[in-house]
Amino acid sequence: MTGVLTPVLTAHWDEPDSFTLAAYRRAGGYRALARALATPPDDIIGMVKASGLRGRGGAGFPTGVKWGFIPQGDGKPHYLVVNADESEPGTCKDIPLMMATPHALIEGAIIAAYAIRAHHAFIYVRGEVLHVIRRLHQAVAEAQAAGYLGRDILGSGYDLELVVHAGAGAYECGEETALLTSLEGHRGLPRLKPPFPAIAGLYASPTVVNNVESIASVPSIVANGADWFAGMGSEKSKGVGIFSLSGHVVTPGQYEAPLGTTLRELLDLAGGVRHGHRLKFWTPGGSSTPILTDEHLDVPLDFEGAAGAGSMLGTRGLQIFDETTCVVRAALRWTEFYEHESCGKCTPCREGTYWMTRILRRLERGEGSEEDLDKLLDISDNMVGRTFCPFGDTAVSPATSSIKYFRDEYIEHSKRGGCPFDPAASAAWAGREAQ
Ligand SMILES: Cc1cc2nc3c(=O)[nH]c(=O)nc-3n(C[C@H](O)[C@H](O)[C@H](O)COP(=O)(O)O)c2cc1C
Ligand code: SF4
Repeated sequence: MTGVLTPVLTAHWDEPDSFTLAAYRRAGGYRALARALATPPDDIIGMVKASGLRGRGGAGFPTGVKWGFIPQGDGKPHYLVVNADESEPGTCKDIPLMMATPHALIEGAIIAAYAIRAHHAFIYVRGEVLHVIRRLHQAVAEAQAAGYLGRDILGSGYDLELVVHAGAGAYECGEETALLTSLEGHRGLPRLKPPFPAIAGLYASPTVVNNVESIASVPSIVANGADWFAGMGSEKSKGVGIFSLSGHVVTPGQYEAPLGTTLRELLDLAGGVRHGHRLKFWTPGGSSTPILTDEHLDVPLDFEGAAGAGSMLGTRGLQIFDETTCVVRAALRWTEFYEHESCGKCTPCREGTYWMTRILRRLERGEGSEEDLDKLLDISDNMVGRTFCPFGDTAVSPATSSIKYFRDEYIEHSKRGGCPFDPAASAAWAGREAQ
């Protein structure tokens, strides 16, 4: 079943008080928690496994399987850490979710923590989004006052403390091991894996790190059953997910649909590419996912479909660019982001992003040459698979994928001695009056 707007997480977003406990309860909220607390923890893990839910933070690892890795009876404390660091260009689903329905995340976190037998859970939010932090604090206080958090939750005997932690604002702190280092109070540098967090995570104890959307999906699975969730989506990518459309699209925003939905179907929902223009290139899941073009309008947007087209599903942050956009300029802007955000721990990424930015700048000004394209690809080869964490693999995507599809456009810059595009024409608001 694909192509249909299927609001589950987003079903109540347009209610004016959707973020309050009263509105969440009105919509059936916290009933799944009562059911979960009356179910053995391993059965909850089994239910999430059976639902086929895969991590919504980008990598798509099966959520129930990850929970099952937590050793039981080991005598160590267990932790649940919700990754709410959402910082990638184009990715904008977790922040709207936490603003609109923070209780969906909190209910999911309580159920997940109960399933892995944790008594402490954390929501790690990027520090810049003060409005989100405030909203979460308010929602946690409401949940605590209602007896959903704290001691003996709903008379079940289960205790949980949930802490909202504000990071200092670094993209790398979204990488799960860097996040844990940061949460412990150190500079947010990644750790070597293995050991994976399930064995040695927060304070060297078994820890589950899950994305906001993954955890917020859990209450609906417990409420409606694993089969309900597994009945949506495609064969290996089950369920629904939030697709965020931004850029040159008539109605940007979040569209919740089954995994496997295509860009063509999503554009239909969003009113299409801005009027009078045509699709040139797009990212399926944020800036780290290689760009695709108008040849890929019918690629099923699930983990397998996006990979089959040479990209990745990532976070379903679809950035849409029409023919007024200079792809060299776009690749430069993204690479500048990666250069700025590189944590500097390993040489290929620290140096690679630095030099890639300089070469792209030269190319964009029309002062580069065809050899510069080979140099960019050579630097990329020396980064992919050779960096300490996956940041380095993804930082090269804008340059390599844009050269793959638009090599001629790079060469055109060099031939002309400048950029053939007018940046004002590609501004998102250009021509809005005419629509
Ligand atoms: C550089 C980098 C940044 C990341 N940023 C995020 C992020 O902001 N949010 C997120 O959930 N996962 C992010 N991830 C992925 C996490 O490392 C991890 O896979 C994820 O939180 C696991 O949750 P999931 O299984 O529910 O998807 C990032 C990974 C890398 C390499
Ligand atoms: S690839 Fe290396 S330098 Fe880049 S963010 Fe990861 S650890 Fe830091």
